[in-house]
Amino acid sequence: MCDRIFLVLLGVPGAGKGTQAKLLEKQFQLPQISTGDIFRYNLKNETDLGKLAKSFMDKGELVPDSVTIEMVKDRLSQSDCANGAIMDGFPRNLVQASAFDEIIDRHGGIDLVPLIALEDDEAMRRITGRRVCRSCGAVYHVDFSPPKQEGVCDIDGGELYQRDDDKPETVRNRLYVYYKQTSPLIGYYYAKGLLAELDGSQEIGQVNVTLLSLLAEKGVIIE
Ligand code: AP5
Ligand code: MG
Repeated sequence: MCDRIFLVLLGVPGAGKGTQAKLLEKQFQLPQISTGDIFRYNLKNETDLGKLAKSFMDKGELVPDSVTIEMVKDRLSQSDCANGAIMDGFPRNLVQASAFDEIIDRHGGIDLVPLIALEDDEAMRRITGRRVCRSCGAVYHVDFSPPKQEGVCDIDGGELYQRDDDKPETVRNRLYVYYKQTSPLIGYYYAKGLLAELDGSQEIGQVNVTLLSLLAEKGVIIE
């Protein structure tokens, strides 16, 4: 394995970025950095950042770059990121991408940008069926990865809830924002030779297997 590994997971909302990031986190002992999760944590704790983020998240819009970039800089300066990180939901536009390059260039830059490809209809099905544990944040799907007992987390017995921004009308705007602001990153990373697309429509375990073989094929990990 390289000394440091920085991965950027790309894909439409619902593609499975968070699900795969959590698997990679365990497999490589690297932290998952999900800007969406950090905003939701702040929202739950009613911090100023949470209150600011809520007004954008409720509409499916991006939180302003200055706030988001500072938050990521701070997160990356923590000691658990010394060996790298799995970026989930950041960068999300070209301004964030170039800020991220500056932040991590001194750490050897990005190793790979896996693009988890998924059709919009399937993304919508996944998002509207998603349930999240209120206490530990574990993610389920009512059909594709249901908990043993409906509404209850398998891990800590916490209550499962539906994210406020997972309603169909907000998801449609999140998809629009993705195509308008995030999809230009596909070209940005392709030009740098970092993009690696994979089929996100397979089941969760199979997507993980494909992702691991991509990482091996590109020399990011040694099997
Ligand atoms: P964020 O939390 O990042 O949401 P998102 O990008 O819209 O992505 P999702 O979390 O909806 O999807 P995912 O790809 O992680 O899918 P998951 O693995 O959960 O952002 C939320 C908001 O925060 C943004 O709208 C914005 O306001 C703000 N924000 C965040 N980052 C920002 C940034 N950088 N800049 C500015 N603002 C920012 O899977 C979805 C469901 O499918 C789950 O139920 C799962 O169990 C299921 N599933 C997963 N994989 C499979 C599979 N292979 N087969 C079947 N089911 C599957
Ligand atoms: Mg997510």
